[in-house]
Parts: sequence; C-alpha cells; structure tokens
Amino acid sequence: MRITMIGTGYVGLVSGACFADFGHEVVCVDKDERKIAMLQAGEMPIYEPGLAELVARNVAQKRLSFTTELAPAVAQAEAVFIGVGTPSRRGDGHADLTYVYAAAREIAHAMEGFTVIVTKSTVPVGTGDEVERIIREERPDADFAVVSNPEFLREGAAISDFKRPDRIVIGIEDERAREPMIQAYRPLHLNHSPMLFTGRRTAELTKYAGNAFLATKITFINEIADLCEKVGANVQDVARGIGLDNRIGSKFLHAGPGFGGSCFPKDTLALIKTAQDNDAPIRIVETVAAVNDTRKRAMGRKVVKACGGDVHGKRIAILGLTFKPNTDDMRDSPAIAIIRTLQDMGARVTAYDPEGIEQARQVLDDVTYADDPYSCTEGADALVIVTEWDAFRALDLGRMKALMKAPVLVDLRNIYRADDVAALGFSYTSVGR
Ligand code: UDX
Repeated sequence: MRITMIGTGYVGLVSGACFADFGHEVVCVDKDERKIAMLQAGEMPIYEPGLAELVARNVAQKRLSFTTELAPAVAQAEAVFIGVGTPSRRGDGHADLTYVYAAAREIAHAMEGFTVIVTKSTVPVGTGDEVERIIREERPDADFAVVSNPEFLREGAAISDFKRPDRIVIGIEDERAREPMIQAYRPLHLNHSPMLFTGRRTAELTKYAGNAFLATKITFINEIADLCEKVGANVQDVARGIGLDNRIGSKFLHAGPGFGGSCFPKDTLALIKTAQDNDAPIRIVETVAAVNDTRKRAMGRKVVKACGGDVHGKRIAILGLTFKPNTDDMRDSPAIAIIRTLQDMGARVTAYDPEGIEQARQVLDDVTYADDPYSCTEGADALVIVTEWDAFRALDLGRMKALMKAPVLVDLRNIYRADDVAALGFSYTSVGR
C-alpha cells in the first residue's frame, strides 16, 4: 500500500517508520527542511529507542523516504495520514488546529483518485468534519473519505506500542475507508489486535477520554500519596493493594511529581474546553488539571522542607530533567517547575540528564549542567531524583554521599528503599511513604 505521512514529529515519524516496516511504501513529508535533511542523512530529530535502526532498515529497503514536497507524495498515495502537531492554543487551552487545516488544504489540491485521509494527530471532536468540509470547499470534485485514527503510543516505548497496541481505534463515516484501514494495519489485523471501528466523532473523543482517564488515575494516586505521608501509610503498598483488583488494574498508579509530557497536560486542557463549550463540563478532569499544576511547584517546596526549610545559597543537584525516562522531551516536565521554585527560593541548581540537557537549556536559565550523576552531586546540599532513568536506579550512593556537602536525598520517584538509604546515613524523603 502507498501511504503518505504529513508531519515528522513523534507520532508522524514513528507511525510512518512502522507502517514502512509493515511492508508499505511510505513517504514522510515535513515543511521543516532541516528536519527532512537530517532524516535523509539518517539522523533522528528526536531521541526514541530503536527508531534510528528502524528508519535505516526501511530506507535501505526503499520502503521509506523523506521529502519537503507534499504534492507529489500525496498524488501517489492511497492513504494520507495527518500527523502534524496540535499544540495548546495560547490563551484558551483549545487545541490549535492551524497545522491540521493547512495540511487538509494542501492535500485537497494534490490528491488524485480515491484517497483516504486519516487524522492521526490528537484532534478535538468535530475536526474530521471540518477537514472534510475544507477539502470539499477547496476541491469540489475530489473523491475521498476522512477517517479518525488516534494514536496511543507512549514516548520511550513508541515502536513497541505502535506494533503491539492494546487496540486500534478507527472512526469512519464512509464505508469505503474500512478496507484500506484494515490493509494499513494488516499485520496487526492478522495478529488479532482488537480493531475497533466507530463513528468518527467517537474515535476522536476516545483518545481524549483515554488520556484524561490515565491522567486522573495518576492524580488520584498522587493525592493518596500526600495523605499517606500525613497518616503514616505507604502509597506503594496501597497502589498494589488496589491495583490487584482487576477492575482497577495496577498500571499508572505510581505516585510522583505529577504528569508532564506532550500529551496529558495539553489533552486534558483541550477536553476541558470541549466539554465546557458543549455545556457538559467534566469537573473531575478540571480538578485533575488544577491539582497536577499545583503539584509540580509543591514538589519544589518539598525539597526545600527536606533541606530544613531554607535553600538560600545552597547547591541542589537534580538528577533527571525530562518528563519521563527514555526520551529527550522536556515539554511540561515537572523538573521545570521544581527547578524554578528552588531558584526563586535562592538555590543554585546543578543538573544531569542522560538525554535531555540540550532541550533543557532551551527552557531553563541559570542551571549548571553536569556530565554525569557524580559530578552533578559534588558539593551539593541535597540530591533530588526527578526522573526515574534506569541509570539512576543503582547509583553508588556511598560515593555520592562522600561527594556531597550534606547527605540529603529527595527521591520523587520512589526508586530507592528508605532502609537502604538510611543505612548509608542519608536523610531521605520520598513520595507517600
Ligand atoms: C501518554 C499516553 O500514555 C499515550 O497513550 C498517549 O498517546 C500520549 O500520552 P506519554 O506522554 O508518552 O504517553 O507518557 P506516559 O508514559 O503515559 O507518562 C505520562 C506522564 O505521567 C509522565 O510524566 C509520567 O512520569 C507520569 N506517570 C505515568 C506517573 O507519574 N505515574 C504513573 O503511574 C504513570
């Protein structure tokens, strides 16, 4: 099958490369010449485990190519996926659909023959209708069907999530789109991955409902963690105790500094807006977004408390900057709010992250970056683990303590055991334990 992917961000690039790996002929299009030049040279614009190899393999097999020219790529395609960004619109939190609609206009003029146009970007309910209207307006004679096929992959596990999804959701209004969509996902269809065909608006809403539910689960356990600290309970045991109930499930019950990333913060806000605009406010999600927002700075204050209530002039070492491990993504990372809170209170911050330093430089001021966890910790008054990179799970804490000015460890991901750390002489603070 000939597939064209518009947009080479996380979703576009990973989906494009995976479709090629399924055996399809895929062309990835992006307006960003620098990005396309990088991809053509075999360099990845994002850090994602396994992606460079996947791209190289499919480029070598001539199934995957990159271009800035949309028209020829669209003309030859049977299916055109739109995987461009939908950032939060400044001011009101609605998803900004400028790029999606611009892509729709360009596709309208370029397509030839019956074409399935698929929105893979996370887009608010009704976007598919608008894409269809735009294309009709631009090209009244065009033969096409617009499909919603939201993507549920996680950063850091993107390739395996795409290839082994819990389900594939496909929203169609025109039956002619069904077969091409089954074809696009053929290997998964043959493997009996659940393929859920719904109406287009239902598919669009399913993505937001899924993300909002997961964000709610995290926020719930985070608030239970705060209560655990007050009443002397252990949140990890509570999470296990409730998670073994199949109706609840054990995943997404890790208490921590609050959710970040490119999806949950933006998608919860967009859902809140859609719900309010349609006179069906979802108050539980409104609360989740508000609680998560305050939590990040509260984690900064937790560090201050661990330092005896004052960090003025102190050096704080931060391990982990990205919003989660195995990515270089800093978007809405809790580390940003935590570091700014500490700086506002007079601390000097030194930080280390295995992949995120380059991105961090663009959002944070006055941070000294270290080359490894140990030099980061040298002379520090406190060590704070913000992101649970595997490399931080087996640190030589004895060596770290010897390097530090004061043995204060704040573990915002609960990756160490209180007893082990205390035995080394650390004053140890974690989340909900
Ligand atoms: C998420 C969804 O999981 C994915 O389905 C969707 O397509 C995009 O958004 P992603 O943002 O890549 O994926 O990361 P995810 O692993 O879901 O983590 C999101 C945030 O929640 C991170 O900041 C993470 O640290 C936090 N989190 C997650 C917790 O604090 N506790 C948990 O138990 C799980």
